[in-house]
Amino acid sequence: MGRFATGVTVLTAVVDGRVHAMTANAVTSVSLDPPLVLASVSAHCQWRFAARAAGGYSIHVLADDQAELARWCASAERHEQPDRLPLLPCGSTGHARLAGVLATIDCRTYAEYPAGDHDLLIGEVVAVEVSVDGEPLVFAERRFGGFRPTVLSAVRDAIVVADFPVEDPFPGWTTPVDSGVATVAG
Ligand SMILES: Cc1cc2nc3c(=O)[nH]c(=O)nc-3n(C[C@H](O)[C@H](O)[C@H](O)COP(=O)(O)O)c2cc1C
Repeated sequence: MGRFATGVTVLTAVVDGRVHAMTANAVTSVSLDPPLVLASVSAHCQWRFAARAAGGYSIHVLADDQAELARWCASAERHEQPDRLPLLPCGSTGHARLAGVLATIDCRTYAEYPAGDHDLLIGEVVAVEVSVDGEPLVFAERRFGGFRPTVLSAVRDAIVVADFPVEDPFPGWTTPVDSGVATVAG
């Protein structure tokens, strides 16, 4: 799975006013109705116990300048210096807010399934906050990186030949004729 690139999140759970955080990339959406998401979490990590006590958790989607935060939230340092977490005042749901993230998804526990040495935590989304503009942090092959968009030329052709009005899903983009690799106009 190391070759499968993912975004990077920090999961938080608030217990007795203390925010417990952990880096996770095994996070995905599950259902639209009801809105459900999933996080696969080590059954033995400390954060797992915090999530159980809190009855819910938040998923913070990291921006590409937050690799250091991702590293730190996967290290033991965070247990010793919890005040280094870049916390903002809590959201309306009482869930934690982290500075500089692209989006935050607050969930209440909907279901939990043991799966080997991990637990699958299904969360029902209770609030979504889209925060700053920016590009997502990406993780693959045990390395952090950035997102490099490409647009297949077939997609561009489909937009041009369609016989009904199609809104360009990529406004502001141009596609070099030969390479099919998109660049941002202007
Ligand atoms: C990029 C990245 C992604 C990670 N994704 C997960 C994950 O999806 N699930 C998980 O249980 N641990 C994941 N980890 C490891 C945990 O962050 C780390 O083991 C955990 O913070 C240790 O937990 P504890 O100190 O609370 O026991 C990831 C680590 C990194 C660096």
